[in-house]
Amino acid sequence: MDFLDEKLEEYLEVNTSEESKELNDLSRETHLKVLRPRMLSGHLQGRFLSMISKMINPKYILEIGTYTGYSAMCLAEGLNPEGKLVTIDRNDELKPILSKYLMSSEYASKIDLHFGLATDIIPTLEGGIDLVFLDADKPNYANYFNLVIDKLNPGGFILADNVLWSGKVVEEANAADKSTQAIVDFNKMVNDDERVENVMLPIRDGITLIRKK
Ligand SMILES: C[S@@+](CC[C@H](N)C(=O)[O-])C[C@H]1O[C@@H](n2cnc3c(N)ncnc32)[C@H](O)[C@@H]1O
Repeated sequence: MDFLDEKLEEYLEVNTSEESKELNDLSRETHLKVLRPRMLSGHLQGRFLSMISKMINPKYILEIGTYTGYSAMCLAEGLNPEGKLVTIDRNDELKPILSKYLMSSEYASKIDLHFGLATDIIPTLEGGIDLVFLDADKPNYANYFNLVIDKLNPGGFILADNVLWSGKVVEEANAADKSTQAIVDFNKMVNDDERVENVMLPIRDGITLIRKK
C-alpha cells in the first residue's frame, strides 16, 4: 500500500533521481513476467536504498529476500570497491531473471547469491556485516533480526521493509493474520531492544532504519 495520494507519489518520483536503464528494464520485465511484481522495491524506494548504501559505503551487505534482484542492484551501487553483497532467496525459479539482470550487471562479481531458506543460510555466513536489508517472509522477521544482530558490526545498520504492512499494524488484531502479528511483534521488539536505536520511515510500505550501538 502507498500511504500518500497518487499525485504526491508521482511528485516524489518525478523529483527523485532517475533509476538506471538496467533497473527500469528489470522492473518492466518483472511486472510483465513474474508473479507478485509489487514485491519489487521500485523507483523511489530503490533510490533510497542506493542513497543509504552510498552513505555507508559498506564492505559487506546482507540482503534477505532477493526476488528479481532490483533492491540488490540498488544496494550494490554503494558498495565499497572491495565490498560484497550476499543475497538469499528460497525461490530458485527466479534464476533466469537474476542471471539476465543482477548476475550480468557490473556488480556481478561482488554478488554472492544463495538459494534456500534464510534461516538455514544466515547461520553459515561470516560476521562483520555493515548493512542488512530485511525483505523476506514476515513471520520470520524477528528470527532474522536475532540471527543477524551478532553478525552485524557495531555502528552497522539494518533496513527492515514493510513495517507498516499496508497499514494493518494499526488495525484491530486478527488472530488468523500471522504476518500482521509478526510485524507488530517485530516493531515492538526492535523498539525495546537496548542494543539498537531505530527510526520508522513512511516510505512506500514503511521502512525501519535500525543502527546497532
Ligand atoms: C518482497 S520480496 C523481495 C523483494 C526485493 N528485495 C526487492 O525489493 O526487489 C520477498 C522475497 O523473499 C523470498 N522469501 C520468502 N521467504 C523466504 C525464506 N524463508 N527464505 C528465503 N527467501 C524467502 C521470496 O521468495 C521473495 O522473492
